[in-house]
Amino acid sequence: MKNAYISGTGYYYPPRVVTNQDLVDQYGIDTSDEWIQKRTGIKARHFADEGVGSAEMGHHAAKMALDNAGIKATELDMILFCTLSPDHTFPGSGVYLQARLECPGVPAMDIRNQCSGFLYGLQTAAALVKSGAAKHVLLVGAETHSAALDLTTRGRGVSSLFGDAAGAVVVSATDEDRGIQHIVLGADGRYGDVLCQKIWDITKRPFIPLDEDGNGVVSPEMMWAHMDGKLVFKNAVEKMITSLAAICWDYKMQVTDLDMVLFHQANLRINQFIQQTMGLDEAKVPSNIERCGNTTAATIPTLLAEQVEQGKVEPGMKMGMAAFGSGFTWGAAYLVW
Ligand code: UT7
Repeated sequence: MKNAYISGTGYYYPPRVVTNQDLVDQYGIDTSDEWIQKRTGIKARHFADEGVGSAEMGHHAAKMALDNAGIKATELDMILFCTLSPDHTFPGSGVYLQARLECPGVPAMDIRNQCSGFLYGLQTAAALVKSGAAKHVLLVGAETHSAALDLTTRGRGVSSLFGDAAGAVVVSATDEDRGIQHIVLGADGRYGDVLCQKIWDITKRPFIPLDEDGNGVVSPEMMWAHMDGKLVFKNAVEKMITSLAAICWDYKMQVTDLDMVLFHQANLRINQFIQQTMGLDEAKVPSNIERCGNTTAATIPTLLAEQVEQGKVEPGMKMGMAAFGSGFTWGAAYLVW
């Protein structure tokens, strides 16, 4: 059986930076830099311009990952696109990315697992490669949150947290003793409504109410994401700790044996709490949330690509990853670089 390793990484942020103060000055939101930083660690995020969507940003990140892997898009055996902000309801953003990459015929599919999407995708990519079904899989996490945030005081509890970005990796086959060792995933759909965006209701006829002129009417409650932040915070801490511990247990390792741990970037305070609770050295837990907010499926691949670019990831390094988000869904991974 082949091993599956990450042969290339890439990332992309749209150029426009929106600071916490910009949310006050440009959008008129009743918030403050102090409130947002104290609760989340976020200082700024990137917002894509109108006309730019997840497939386009994913394309930038994918090109960088393919270049770093030294392969062409036509050599791919699968494209996996993780997002909760696809360009359209259907088809998925994976096929739009495939068209941009000019590799017709390469299978493409979307993974809709929110903040855990990248780890669900990594599990899928590793399984395809280890089984021999694929030699190279492109795995992209990309989000265009800025188009779907209630950028008013009403929506501040959610809209001050999120930003736009794309991250990508190529997962390739190798005979070397390295790569993706183990991934654990979990979900608990009983909490599906705790963090959700119900832009339409497919149980209704029609699925979006119509006004008397036949135009769709979407109320604010349907249009924008809702979150019980405290419940998400509590469960994120618990599930990221237990899944990372489970990975280490399976490999007879201490969490402190890991050389680097990449956490989903939802809230710096969540990650600091986990890092301290698990006795992890702060220097082993990099973050980018300060600069880009929560970018959902893009958090881990952007963070990884930045660490690689900065020369901080060495061959043989033991790396952990953990994520938690809407669904609830969660997971952790153990890789040897
Ligand atoms: O990746 C997806 C997973 N998401 C997460 O992991 C997020 C987890 N949750 C959290 O990070 C925290 O719950 C938040 C940072 C979202 C919120 O922190 P909190 O301490 O739970 O605040 P809260 O929602 O209980 O709100 C406290 C107060 C409220 O005012 P009142 O009702 O006490 O008067 C909010 O209206 O803070 C207010 N508030 C704000 N004030 C200024 C909420 N958002 C803001 C804001 N600026 N942006």
